[in-house]
Amino acid sequence: MTARLIDGKAHAASVRARVRDRVADIHARTGLTPGLAVVLVGHDPASEVYVRSKGKQAVEAGMRSFEHRMPTDTPAADLLDLIRRLNEDPLVHGILVQLPLPAHLDARAVINAISPAKDVDGFHISNVGMVGTGQDAIVPCTPLGCMMMLRHHHADFRGLTALVIGHSNIVGKPMARLLLNADCTVIVAHKSSINIPELARIADIVIVAAGVPGLVRAEWIKPGATVIDVGINRIERDGKPALVGDVDFDNVRHVAGAITPVPGGVGPMTIACLLANTLTAFCHQNDLQEEPLLLDEQDQT
Ligand code: GUN
Repeated sequence: MTARLIDGKAHAASVRARVRDRVADIHARTGLTPGLAVVLVGHDPASEVYVRSKGKQAVEAGMRSFEHRMPTDTPAADLLDLIRRLNEDPLVHGILVQLPLPAHLDARAVINAISPAKDVDGFHISNVGMVGTGQDAIVPCTPLGCMMMLRHHHADFRGLTALVIGHSNIVGKPMARLLLNADCTVIVAHKSSINIPELARIADIVIVAAGVPGLVRAEWIKPGATVIDVGINRIERDGKPALVGDVDFDNVRHVAGAITPVPGGVGPMTIACLLANTLTAFCHQNDLQEEPLLLDEQDQT
């Protein structure tokens, strides 16, 4: 058996096209344009790439992009002051502070300083609490992208068991909450779990965000399971730099029913979902009663 490849690039292109069309339509009707502000503190090379890409894709979707770069030694008060100004700026509908922050800055305090209505990462305690209690709220981009791809393969999560490996605030925890909200049976494993292979063997869906190259092996996987690989690991292979996930893709693909590749799986969906979240935040802030963009029939089986 060879698993169906879940084409994140194609899914992301579809989301971006729908966002772009909706932005153009709203602009034609109202003259309004969504704005996304991205804040980068310091010079983390991976963050530099992500931030550039977020700004570029926002512009391609017809949005305004505001990029704020601050030096590594930025005092907390300066960053909080910038966030206060962005919270008050009527041209800015979405605010994202790229993580990780330099060690002297308290990421929790910074995230919670963002207006929940503009928190397009869905990291503010208010949005986290809303999603945790099954209420409509801004959902973190990576788990949202994973859910959208999963819905293509599973019209109904009831009766299915999912294993989420990794319990970060960015991916693992919100992923588990979304699956629970969809009535999936959810197991969350992490670096202190001792029986991950056994847990994986009973899972119809495995989602891994552990940052460990090749962690998930073919012997762990229930035949036909859906495997979503959130890992992005930069390694050296045959003397050359390579990007690999947390799944032993070459072997797992012969057991799984469907699988995301790395690159080209979850990665492209994250920024597409950021654009979708920015559009949603913009619509709420302007009392635009738009049809839901994301989970329409194009995203279901
Ligand atoms: N760093 C890695 N992933 C993310 C993300 O989704 N949002 C932000 N703000 N920083 C990140």
